[in-house]
Amino acid sequence: MAAAKSVFTFVFSFPLLFTFSLASDPYVSYVFHVSYITASPLGVPQKVIAVNGKFPGPVLNATTNYNVVVNVFNDLDEPLLLTWPGVQMRRNSWQDGVLGTNCPIPSKWNYTYDFQLKDQIGSYFYFPSLNFQRASGGFGPIIINNRNLIPIPFAKPDGEIIFIIGDWYTKNHTALRRILDSGKELGMPDGVLINGKGPYKYNSSVPDGIEYETVHVDPGKTYRIRVHNVGVSTSLNFRIQNHKLLLIETEGRYTSQINFTDVDVHVGQSYSFLVTMDQNASSDYYIVASARFVNETVWQRVTGVGILHYSNSKGPASGPLPVPVTDISHPWSAMNQPRAIKQNTSSSGARPNPQGSYHYGQINITSTYILRSLPPTKINGKLRATLNGISFVNPSTPMRLADNNKVKGDYKMDFPDRPLDNRRPRLDSSIINATYKGFIQVIFQNNDTKIQSFHIDGYSFYVVAMDFGIWSEDKKGSYNNWDAISRSTVEVYPGAWTAVLISLDNVGVWNIRVENLDRWYLGQETYMRILNPEENGNTEMGPPKNVLYCGALKTLQQEQYRSSATSILNGQLNLIFTMMMVLLASVSAFC
Ligand SMILES: *[C@@H]1O[C@H](CO)[C@@H](O)[C@H](O)[C@H]1NC(C)=O
Ligand SMILES: *[C@@H]1O[C@H](CO)[C@@H](O)[C@H](O)[C@H]1NC(C)=O
Ligand SMILES: *[C@@H]1O[C@H](CO)[C@@H](O)[C@H](O)[C@H]1NC(C)=O
Ligand SMILES: *[C@@H]1O[C@H](CO)[C@@H](O)[C@H](O)[C@H]1NC(C)=O
Ligand SMILES: *[C@@H]1O[C@H](CO)[C@@H](O)[C@H](O)[C@H]1NC(C)=O
Ligand SMILES: *[C@@H]1O[C@H](CO)[C@@H](O)[C@H](O)[C@H]1NC(C)=O
Ligand SMILES: *[C@@H]1O[C@H](CO)[C@@H](O)[C@H](O)[C@H]1NC(C)=O
Ligand SMILES: *[C@@H]1O[C@H](CO)[C@@H](O)[C@H](O)[C@H]1NC(C)=O
Ligand SMILES: *[C@@H]1O[C@H](CO)[C@@H](O)[C@H](O)[C@H]1NC(C)=O
Ligand SMILES: *[C@@H]1O[C@H](CO)[C@@H](O)[C@H](O)[C@H]1NC(C)=O
Ligand SMILES: *[C@@H]1O[C@H](CO)[C@@H](O)[C@H](O)[C@H]1NC(C)=O
Repeated sequence: MAAAKSVFTFVFSFPLLFTFSLASDPYVSYVFHVSYITASPLGVPQKVIAVNGKFPGPVLNATTNYNVVVNVFNDLDEPLLLTWPGVQMRRNSWQDGVLGTNCPIPSKWNYTYDFQLKDQIGSYFYFPSLNFQRASGGFGPIIINNRNLIPIPFAKPDGEIIFIIGDWYTKNHTALRRILDSGKELGMPDGVLINGKGPYKYNSSVPDGIEYETVHVDPGKTYRIRVHNVGVSTSLNFRIQNHKLLLIETEGRYTSQINFTDVDVHVGQSYSFLVTMDQNASSDYYIVASARFVNETVWQRVTGVGILHYSNSKGPASGPLPVPVTDISHPWSAMNQPRAIKQNTSSSGARPNPQGSYHYGQINITSTYILRSLPPTKINGKLRATLNGISFVNPSTPMRLADNNKVKGDYKMDFPDRPLDNRRPRLDSSIINATYKGFIQVIFQNNDTKIQSFHIDGYSFYVVAMDFGIWSEDKKGSYNNWDAISRSTVEVYPGAWTAVLISLDNVGVWNIRVENLDRWYLGQETYMRILNPEENGNTEMGPPKNVLYCGALKTLQQEQYRSSATSILNGQLNLIFTMMMVLLASVSAFC
């Protein structure tokens, strides 16, 4: 035990140098009006969820250690929460925007999020976490830039381009919810959107009159391309005809740089690439995001197509779409791609510690959690999905709020650390009682028939191994203990497992969930509660002044009155107007 402590001291002491510079860190403020607008991304008019009238929403652009304030106005007809996955909300799960941590923002109310981007860089996205709303939109990119004094491990790109990709249904989120509630699966999506737009008419299978995405570039220039899969449940293969994608970043960690012709981007994942415009522009080039790990012959319509247009282009793109080089007919060969993604151990970049330690491989593991997902099953006559036999039911009061106000029986801390084959699947508000400063491994074991991605809020984790079959202790011998990538959303192949290591240094209650929206909706999630047993001031933040109350505490909540969105906007200072102008300028970069 003494030895274990000394390693932690080493690992934990370094970050203290810059952890306590709180007061002077700059603020950026945003106002987000979340509302329905009518759009026809696949040629069928439908209501989509927009942020400030934009679909996808505006870029939230900030820099390491900035404080971010986002005043969110819920102009939907349903409760709303925005969540910021991958943003680590150090000691501040109060701002995480999921049901276990926050009361929903009622329709026509507003709520101001306030959090700090502590020791962090990278590409992420925000989205609405309740009621399947992400299937109708409400998402937008988050960029956390390096501070100026920190060098980036590549030449400054000539420009930046964001691709928000995702499968898409012409049915809205309430209709999709109803399908799942009736015990059915969603079935094949109607298409794939790229930046909120449908496919370019690359052949006669695409209907006429669909607006598609065109990206304008200059020959010879190198762009940083950020790709986010915000979709419901489909893994997408992303590629740009004739162009190499040089991988540089994975959800906040600079990677060892590696060229790909096409990359599988699973639901919830984000990547940055450098792309050099090194072709002769004899025509435009296709940008493709196509369904993966499905029968691609049947799922042909689930393909997003945009256009890369050089300023000296000699004509439109034509002919068949480029096909992915990576082979999924042999899944183990496809798995070589994620296995090839490693961190660049010599590049700098802000990151929370001790995850930042190069020595994660030398730290002894203090506990193991095996989280097994099974295909959906009926519980009490309803279709539900489980992790370790438990289909999660959100407690009526957010958990730390319940703790702070001594609400009893809100949730239980008895989540099993491995699957229990002798118990019937059940509904429960059961979470993991995890140990502060423990160094744990989590094994995601996918016994479902579909590829899934799993995400943990508040943390980034080392992806030390993935393989087919059932995980067992002896697999530890195969772990990458040196340069495993650190990220917050990882794919788990069907019939396979993925092992991640996490240093539990961030107090709070943090969501562990499948990012595939259908399975998440059906209950495939839980939380980890991490508290410092010796409260010494360096631990969790208290609830924010504007905390919303609900559930057992709803009588503490005051009414909120608001005459109209316009009058509120008019009442604001110039600052907000300026912010909007900055937003518009940045949004126009990719719209
Ligand atoms: C890790 O565990 C091993 C075996 O239990 C022990 O010998 C070693 O000292 C521990 N290392 C640390 C750094 O605690
Ligand atoms: C969603 O679709 C349902 C069924 O088609 C419809 O009744 C409802 O009005 C739609 N909601 C929105 C916000 O468009
Ligand atoms: C709602 O917005 C107003 C400004 O329009 C702000 O003063 C207030 O603090 C916000 N409410 C919450 C709960 O954040
Ligand atoms: C890793 O980062 C270093 C330092 O920035 C850089 O010089 C090197 O090229 C990078 N290596 C790879 C393989 O990406
Ligand atoms: C990636 O491909 C480009 C273009 O072919 C090449 O110039 C570059 O050296 C490659 N980089 C790596 C790290 O393989
Ligand atoms: C441009 O490049 C394409 C593909 O690399 C090649 O087939 C074509 O001949 C080139 N055209 C010219 C004018 O160089
Ligand atoms: C994909 O679906 C087609 C049409 O239903 C079928 O003929 C083919 O065998 C399927 N391919 C695979 C790999 O299952
Ligand atoms: C359209 O393109 C797809 C993919 O490139 C191809 O499989 C399909 O046969 C084409 N359909 C028609 C009608 O040309
Ligand atoms: C949670 O774990 C701590 C030790 O890490 C233990 O003291 C506490 O009793 C546990 N709480 C519950 C409810 O199991
Ligand atoms: C699920 O687990 C069972 C029992 O271990 C195994 O036989 C089956 O192949 C697994 N299926 C998948 C898709 O992992
Ligand atoms: C983000 O902000 C930085 C500096 O504040 C600026 O250089 C960059 O262009 C902005 N990016 C976007 C996409 O708005």
